[in-house]
Amino acid sequence: MTNTPRITIAIDGFSSCGKSTMAKELARRIGYIYIDSGAMYRAVTLYCLDNNLIIDNTVQRDALAQAMENIKIGFVTNPTTGKQETYLNGVCVEKEIRTMRVSQCVSLVSQIDFVRTALVAQQRAMGEAKGIVMDGRDIGTAVFPDAEMKIFVTASARVRAERRAAEMEDADIDAIERNIAMRDETDMTREISPLRKADDAIELDNSHMTIAEQDAWLKARYNEVIERLNP
Ligand code: DC
Repeated sequence: MTNTPRITIAIDGFSSCGKSTMAKELARRIGYIYIDSGAMYRAVTLYCLDNNLIIDNTVQRDALAQAMENIKIGFVTNPTTGKQETYLNGVCVEKEIRTMRVSQCVSLVSQIDFVRTALVAQQRAMGEAKGIVMDGRDIGTAVFPDAEMKIFVTASARVRAERRAAEMEDADIDAIERNIAMRDETDMTREISPLRKADDAIELDNSHMTIAEQDAWLKARYNEVIERLNP
């Protein structure tokens, strides 16, 4: 299989539906780069919080526009864990970008046109050489509209809430479900690059699948694309 074509794989979908788990595993199996585009929006949000660019739930647009060129985001594989970690201006921020402090403000930042323009440009540069799996909300629609393989992942809000709750102690599943439904609404109704399934994306509802089943499903779709391109 020396001439297997290297392609671009876009995995979009709702929050907390296991996109990154399946995207990472596919990238590992086929030797591709994996990029978590949500981590990039989270890193910009952390920068804003640490530099007082969010005041009373409002992003200071002009100040952020000026700061954008000083915000350098990268991904580095941790040699001990083998896991990829997000860096902001040379500092590992992998843990901090997953905190509630960041989660609560990230949708304010990811709605901003010039933030999206800058991050989409970086994402395209990362994918220039192909051989990439990227997950997010607008990868198949805006970042890589020509991707050879596009997947759109869904799962019911209840199932996603149950999965989140299983990772926490004393979780209030109803409250989590309401929060998930609210974020779905924000993602789908925002003006710029709202979450939507690309016309040529394959939909996966993984509500009733195990991780092993969804990994196998994704690998099978990849095999089909490669077979089609390289019969
Ligand atoms: O996937 P996540 O929850 O880590 O994403 C964080 C936020 O960034 C979420 O509010 C949606 C937004 N996002 C986006 O607007 N576009 C992307 N390509 C990825 C994430």
